[in-house]
Parts: sequence; structure tokens; C-alpha cells
Amino acid sequence: MNENVLNIEHLQSCFFTARGRVPAVDDVTIEVPQGQIIGVVGESGCGKSMTAMSVMGLLRHPGKVVGGTITLNGRDITNLSPGERAKIRGNEISMIFQEPMTSLNPVYQVGRQVQEAILLHQKVSKEEARRRVIEIFREVGIPEPEKRYHSYPHQLSGGLRQRVMIGMAMVCKPKVMIADEPTTALDVTIEAQILRLMKRLRDEQGTSIILITHNMA
Ligand SMILES: Nc1ncnc2c1ncn2[C@@H]1O[C@H](COP(=O)(O)OP(=O)(O)OP(=O)(O)O)[C@@H](O)[C@H]1O
Ligand SMILES: [Mg+2]
Repeated sequence: MNENVLNIEHLQSCFFTARGRVPAVDDVTIEVPQGQIIGVVGESGCGKSMTAMSVMGLLRHPGKVVGGTITLNGRDITNLSPGERAKIRGNEISMIFQEPMTSLNPVYQVGRQVQEAILLHQKVSKEEARRRVIEIFREVGIPEPEKRYHSYPHQLSGGLRQRVMIGMAMVCKPKVMIADEPTTALDVTIEAQILRLMKRLRDEQGTSIILITHNMA
């Protein structure tokens, strides 16, 4: 009986470059049981982010998953079409990226962006989606959430942007969340807060978390 919410088995991803095939992920196997936090530690360039991107279905050309299987909630998602992958992403599985600006659009208000993420996956009214944005902003510790809803990414500090991203990753209550060095850019106080927040998510919603870091502590 397989109780793991996510199974990554013998995953291999390569980049196909002019100078040949470059392996970025080579035979990675990770089992993620429900409600647990799994730490992935490794030196820079060893393939942590590329593993995460492969699982999310976000590897971009010339990168490609060339071997292994990814099973999410008992379903093999390795070869799903990009459209089917997009339905899962942000909904069943979400990711906090190493660099917050890669996933926030600089020309939209942050509240709007999180609202769009909700509307994409859930059949709720705009008003309800907006209410959930304010609620999640409050939960991730963004002060004055009603006001911050209308902020653009560049108007927020690094810590607040990271909270917006975490809120966006959490808002659809995914079964699995991959956090790729979520606190590297932040000071230690904020780091402690964010880690507490992720633990609470795990405790309250049973979310499984893969925490990527090169900080053993
Ligand atoms: N576009 C690309 N073309 C070719 N090789 C790439 C490309 N992007 C990444 N790689 C290679 O994939 C390997 C894994 O990179 P990855 O970003 O996953 O490392 P990482 O473990 O996340 O490192 P860090 O701790 O610095 O974030 C690296 O050796 C890198 O050279
Ligand atoms: Mg990385």
C-alpha cells in the first residue's frame, strides 16, 4: 500500500545543448509521505531546483525530463500534457521559487495576482476570491492586507514579496508544496517566521512540504 502523497522515482532530466546532452538531474528518488516535511540539502548546482522544476512540469526548453516517474496522489503525472499539468499546478502541488520576482508579475497588483490564481482553480465568485486573498495575506503575516492587496511587487520589501508568494502557493490548499530556498534572501527573524508558517500549514492542513536548502541548520 502506497501512502506517499508524492513519489519521485529515478528521475532524470537533461539539457540538450549545442555541445551535447548535459545531465542536470540524475537518478533522483524522493518519497514524500502525507503531512511530512522533507529536507533536500546539497551543494550549489547539484540539481535541487531542476528536480523541483521537473516535478512541477516547469522545465523549459532545452531542458527535458528523460527518465523516471513522478506520482502525485497515486496518479502518474510524468507525461501529462502541459494543459493537464497546469490544472494541477498551484492547486494540488505548488512551489515557492528561489527568486520571488520570477513568479510575481511586476505590472499587476499582488492581490490581483493571488486572486487570479484562485479563480483559475476554483469555482468561486470574484468577491469570494478577494476575501480569500485578504484572509491568506493576514495568515502569512502581511500587515494591513486590504491595503497591501493593491500594492505592486516593487512597492513591497523582499520579506513581504516572499510572503505574497507563500500565500499564493498556499491559497488553494495544495497537498504538496515545494519550497526552493524560500528564505535565502531574507533576514533571520523573517526566516524564522516563514519556517513557522510552513510548519503551521503542515499541522493545520496536512500539507506535505519539500524544503530545499543548503543551510544544514
Ligand atoms: N539552461 C540550462 N542549460 C544547461 N544546463 C543547465 C541549465 N540550467 C541549469 N543547468 C544545470 O543544471 C544543474 C543543476 O542546476 P540547479 O539549478 O538545479 O542547481 P541547484 O542545486 O538548485 O543549485 P543552487 O543551490 O545554486 O540553487 C547545474 O549544474 C546547471 O549547470
Ligand atoms: Mg537552486
